[in-house]
Amino acid sequence: MSVESARDVIRRCRVLAGCSDEPGFTTRTFLSDSMRVVLVKLTTWMSAAGMSVSVDAAGNLRGVYQGASADARRLLIGSHLDTVPHAGAFDGVLGVMIGLALVESLHGTRLPFGIEVIGFSEEEGVRFGVPFIGSRAIVGELDKTLLEARDADGVTVAQAIRKFGMDPSRMADARTDANPIGYLEFHIEQGPVLEAAGRPLAVVDRINGRSSADVTFTGAAGHAGTTPMNTRQDAVAGAAEWIGCVEAHAHGTKGLVATTGRIDAAPGAANVIAGRCRVSLDVRHADDRIRVAAIQRFRVAAEEIGARRRLQVDWLPRLDQSTTEMDPQLVAMLARALEAAGAPKTVMASGAGHDAMVLAPHMPAAMLFIRTPGGISHHPAESVDEGDVAMALAAGTNFLNQLAASIGV
Ligand code: HGY
Ligand code: MN
Ligand code: MN
Repeated sequence: MSVESARDVIRRCRVLAGCSDEPGFTTRTFLSDSMRVVLVKLTTWMSAAGMSVSVDAAGNLRGVYQGASADARRLLIGSHLDTVPHAGAFDGVLGVMIGLALVESLHGTRLPFGIEVIGFSEEEGVRFGVPFIGSRAIVGELDKTLLEARDADGVTVAQAIRKFGMDPSRMADARTDANPIGYLEFHIEQGPVLEAAGRPLAVVDRINGRSSADVTFTGAAGHAGTTPMNTRQDAVAGAAEWIGCVEAHAHGTKGLVATTGRIDAAPGAANVIAGRCRVSLDVRHADDRIRVAAIQRFRVAAEEIGARRRLQVDWLPRLDQSTTEMDPQLVAMLARALEAAGAPKTVMASGAGHDAMVLAPHMPAAMLFIRTPGGISHHPAESVDEGDVAMALAAGTNFLNQLAASIGV
């Protein structure tokens, strides 16, 4: 694969980054109007590559490149098409563009397996507070509870699907075919590790576990000018004390990361003591026992602060994902492919969550990381290096050739 192909991949990612719910930024949420534009562009590009393209009941884009025989098993290559607010151009989309580029590089040659390139409709959890809607549909886990999750406007996932033109009652059809060979996800590392090590690529052998929750502190709104400090039930002050406890514990626990990234205070006026404050919590660690213990500790701390400040505390779990191992055989195959592409063999864990952790319990799964300059991600300045993308494409081609040889023609 040439640097030309890498340039094409990067160019396409930047074109899709312009498809946004928010002018001037890259913000693309589940089944938004800008997602529809992305699906139209991708359908055009995939069809031109000889793929049959469809959108499933969860809004995932499914591009199928047939193998030598119509009933050949498929390798799934994919990632997500949605973004966080004010995202960069590569988180998720790069994996779909690399999958498409690998199919294009076959120039019509048929392999002993099919390739299905999947653009997942939702991985970030921005609109509904629950992530992995797209990939859960692929493995039959998009259940009734998830379909009834509501966004800030009270719209359910099922209503959003209908509004987009699909039928949520057909969700079972979104399940991947009976017996995929496995799932391969190319993704930016989104952290500083590869850059610090001077490495362009890495094979992911494990994705760290992750828990998230919404924690609401409810006190009593009041007048900022007349309410004495010792009589207040200030929800923001209580939340702030708790956030300090969360950060202190994470700082003091090796390998633990804890984030309170979203705070909603009500009624939200400068001269009113906040009666209610909802805080998002995201906790991750490679060792599930440490992650679970941290969640317990944060919950006890919230209750203790609530009791002392006369605040009600409501804890709404959103996600609990165990640390997920990638498939050792695919990891080994990917490591060989990476070395054959000229990259030093590098294997690492992923601190970020990915669709691969949803698919891994259902089929062999592996990921290939691409260096993130400055470790900058979930930010408009997110970037990739052309040479690293070219090397990832070469590794992908090597992987396809190894897989074809292992299956035989
Ligand atoms: O949050 C994550 O780890 C991923 O970027 N969705
Ligand atoms: Mn992300
Ligand atoms: Mn991602």
